[in-house]
Amino acid sequence: MINLQMAEFVRSAAKKEDFPRDGLPQIVFSGRSNVGKSSVINRLLGRKNFARVGSAPGKTTHINYFKIDGKFYLVDLPGYGYAKVSQAEKARWGRLIQAWFDDPSLMTLGCMLVDARHKPTADDCTMGNWFKETGRPFVVVANKLDKLKKSEIEPNLQRIRDTLELDESVKVIPFSAEKGEGRDALLGELAEHIGEGFR
Ligand code: GTP
Ligand code: MG
Repeated sequence: MINLQMAEFVRSAAKKEDFPRDGLPQIVFSGRSNVGKSSVINRLLGRKNFARVGSAPGKTTHINYFKIDGKFYLVDLPGYGYAKVSQAEKARWGRLIQAWFDDPSLMTLGCMLVDARHKPTADDCTMGNWFKETGRPFVVVANKLDKLKKSEIEPNLQRIRDTLELDESVKVIPFSAEKGEGRDALLGELAEHIGEGFR
């Protein structure tokens, strides 16, 4: 059983030489800046301030690796779609992400985050296609569920599925990093792909 309390920050990678290749499973989080990647990681680990939750969106420009109980990595990819970054920064982001997606064998499971309130953006669709092209399993996490009315949940989840053109095998997991909804479902996906449960 994996102990989620045993979480350590390993490194920030800015180039592919920095990517761990030690064979441990890697669970990868990607999504727009501000969608809640760091918050979802904090929620999964039951921590408040472990992965940094940014007051300055778009400032996470590295790939952050967290090792859990010596058994697997949570990988926090830098967010995209933040309007106020320069062209040079966008280009750097593109090169880093491209380097990452160059070797999909590193990815045990992808977690693509979208905002449960909104129709996925063109950038989200591009990211979705990158995930599809890896041929690796991935799930879509629809975060900020707490901001929806009950009646909006089902139609919004369907719109996410339709816009990203997900096939039936890809799960869309409603999630609230704020309230904790969806935590067990997402941990279940992680356990299945890592091959070991959590305590
Ligand atoms: P970057 O690192 O800039 O790419 O952002 P990020 O995707 O890591 O987002 P982050 O976790 O920093 O969260 C952005 C903001 O959204 C913060 O103010 C969070 O408190 C808020 N937030 C994250 N998840 C939720 C959620 O489920 N519900 C609500 N209401 N707010 C959330
Ligand atoms: Mg972050």
